[in-house]
Amino acid sequence: MRVLFVCLGNICRSPTAEGVLRHKLREAGLADRIEVDSAGTGDWHVGKAPDVRTRLAAQHRGYDLATLRGRQVSTSDFARFDLILAMDNSNLSHLHSLRPDNSSAELDLFLRRYQLALDEVPDPYYGGEQGFEQVLDLIEQASDALLVELKGRL
Ligand code: 4NP
Repeated sequence: MRVLFVCLGNICRSPTAEGVLRHKLREAGLADRIEVDSAGTGDWHVGKAPDVRTRLAAQHRGYDLATLRGRQVSTSDFARFDLILAMDNSNLSHLHSLRPDNSSAELDLFLRRYQLALDEVPDPYYGGEQGFEQVLDLIEQASDALLVELKGRL
C-alpha cells in the first residue's frame, strides 16, 4: 500500500500528516508494509524543510519532521500511489484536474473520509500558533482512523 498526502505548499499540513502516520505505523509495526509520502500542489517550497512552526508543534507531540523536504505533486504520483488524500477542497479539485484518465489511484478528502467534525484541514500558514495545534489535532484523529483502514486492507 502506498499513501500520499497533498496540501498546497507541502510545508505545513501534508508533511504533518506524513510524520504522524509514519509514527503510528512504526508503533504498529507496519512501517515496512505501507509507504507514505507527501507533496504540494504548488511549487514555491520545493526542496524546503517544513515550516519551523509546523516542525516545533509536531516536535512537542513527539513527531520529527526535520528530514522531510517539499516537493510538488506530479502525474506520475497517480501511478505510484494507491490512496491520495487531500487536506482541503481546493487541493482535491487540483488533483482531480491533474489525474490521468487511466489512473486507478483513489482520491479523497482526508478528514471527510473518516467523518470528523471538519471536512478540511484549515491552512495554518497565515495564522497564529493555535492553527498549528488544530492541524495536529485533526490529523492525529484522522490518522488513527486511517491506520484502522490500512490494517483492514493489508
Ligand atoms: P500547507 O500551507 O499547504 O499546509 O503547506 C501553506 C504553505 C505555504 C503557503 C500556503 C500554504 N504559501 O502560500 O506559501
